[in-house]
Amino acid sequence: MTDLSAESARAPITVGVCGAGTMGAGIAQVCLQAGHEVLLYDVDEQAIQRGRHRVGEGLLHLVEKGRLEPADRDRLLTSLRDAHSLEELAEESDLVIEAALEDLALKQTIFRALGASARPNAILATNTSALSVNDIADASGIPDRVLGLHFFNPAAVMPLVEVVAGEATSPETLEVATRFAEGLGKTVVVCRDAPGFIVNRVNRPFTLEALRMVEVGEVSIETIDAAMTAAGYPMGPFALIDLVGVDVNLAVAQALWAASDEAIRFTPSPIQRNLVELGRLGRKTGEGFYRYHHGSVVGPAEGLPEVGVAEPGPASAALEPAEIVSRIELAIINEAYHAAGDGVAEPSDIDRAMKLGANHPYGPFERAGELGLRAVIDGLTQFEALHGERYRIAPALWQIASI
Ligand code: 3HC
Repeated sequence: MTDLSAESARAPITVGVCGAGTMGAGIAQVCLQAGHEVLLYDVDEQAIQRGRHRVGEGLLHLVEKGRLEPADRDRLLTSLRDAHSLEELAEESDLVIEAALEDLALKQTIFRALGASARPNAILATNTSALSVNDIADASGIPDRVLGLHFFNPAAVMPLVEVVAGEATSPETLEVATRFAEGLGKTVVVCRDAPGFIVNRVNRPFTLEALRMVEVGEVSIETIDAAMTAAGYPMGPFALIDLVGVDVNLAVAQALWAASDEAIRFTPSPIQRNLVELGRLGRKTGEGFYRYHHGSVVGPAEGLPEVGVAEPGPASAALEPAEIVSRIELAIINEAYHAAGDGVAEPSDIDRAMKLGANHPYGPFERAGELGLRAVIDGLTQFEALHGERYRIAPALWQIASI
């Protein structure tokens, strides 16, 4: 057994990963690459085997790129073991990272079991996208040793980990977990336990604004994705929803909406709900907004009108790529001011998190500086008049602008 401390957190330890889906497998891969032993658990034994297969594919990708020797891949895979119960996972791990479905009751059940069997110094982390770390930690019975370690999809590639301290998280837990995440080669940004933390909150308009545009037939999915990639974003909003999963994207919107007294700007889109009901969850099911074959896009999905995607009307011709980009960017800047005003993180950390967790070409405060606050305010005022309350200027932005 390793005595987990700030000194030992970068040394090889046993990491338990609970949940063998896309994120769980990606996190397991990153931990193996950093030299840790990994125990993978899922309620569904077949899911463990699918997760194991995903890890193998991720490492194979590195071999094909010449970044990993085939023998090292084999060696890393022998450090990946299955766990058959939460008790076994907790008893054998120095640090457990939970990456189960975004369901508070489920996560609380998991943490109750993990807390009951955890080793004396072990740390329990949740990879929740937008649920409260405090609510999850409370169920564990050892909330001082619980925190959020929030990875970004694809976990093997994205450089950011948001480290989220709950009210009871001890300073030592925070320090050890931070060192551990840095030891995985990640950049850490510490943020408050606020809904969606930094990136899932500030980047919400990237997908929600895009969904609103297609709900009312202003423009097509492909046009929005093309406009955003041409503006320097790594992928368009619909390709991104398909990557993270339509269900995960919806769960984040729902959590933010519920936590903000159903603020209009976070209202989930009926398109997301309808796709989830149909089981069209994006890349992982082969179809979301696009169709996929062996992980590559083969074309737009069929039946999008059935889920509420309106055909672009004649007015769509007037919606230039610059306006699409401007509406999404200004809404992101506005949300960044909301988040900073609520004390989620400092503006510099919000900028850093958006560049490392979403690969945006600039942080929202940097972008506001480039555009000029006058232009940001004028743009939001105009968009609010045309499209409604969701563009209403954040109090913190008004304050800065009036200084
Ligand atoms: N393991 C290791 N490396 C991998 C890998 C894997 N499984 N998959 C890809 N890579 C590497 C590739 O080798 C490549 O490296 P190189 O550029 O040095 O050769 C690099 O990753 C990029 O891969 P690709 O060339 O295949 O793909 P792209 O250049 O098109 O980039 C992308 C893909 C990184 C996904 C990029 O499009 C991107 O950054 N998109 C935005 C993703 C994003 O916003 N993620 C956050 C979502 S929100 C979230 O996850 C939070 C959750 O709570 C909802």
